[in-house]
Amino acid sequence: MAAGLISSTAVAGPEGKCKACHTFDQGGKHKTGPNLFGIVGKKAGSTDFKKYGKSLKHADWVWDEENLKAWVCDSKEAIRELTGDDHAKTKMGKQKKCGDDAEAVVAFLKTLK
Ligand code: HEC
Repeated sequence: MAAGLISSTAVAGPEGKCKACHTFDQGGKHKTGPNLFGIVGKKAGSTDFKKYGKSLKHADWVWDEENLKAWVCDSKEAIRELTGDDHAKTKMGKQKKCGDDAEAVVAFLKTLK
């Protein structure tokens, strides 16, 4: 039994909240947000998700632990820092997973490969 299978089907877990809008399995469907398989180390806005906002569509950064932690804490703030544009916006709401919670979410995202 693969550990990944258990965590991706668990109801709770650090990523529980993300599941309303994201899938985590390889080749999983895009929902309100893009599939997040292999997101760590991937260029932002580079899946074939059709509904990226302008800032993610034209993103030039790669998702790493640091920027993902900032993203799950406050995506609205993070998009401005990542783009260097004070008016940049994202369609993803602020998730308020900060500090240890952010660490836990990112640790989970790292297992998706
Ligand atoms: C209410 C829906 C919703 C929830 C809940 C949500 N997201 Fe998102 N997420 C989105 C949308 C929509 C986008 C695309 C945003 C854009 O294009 O501006 C997105 C984008 C992302 C991206 C960028 C993907 C890429 O291809 O560059 C990451 C990473 C991400 N979300 C992680 C998470 C994590 C982790 C959680 C849980 C802590 C979460 N999201 C919760 C809707 C959501």
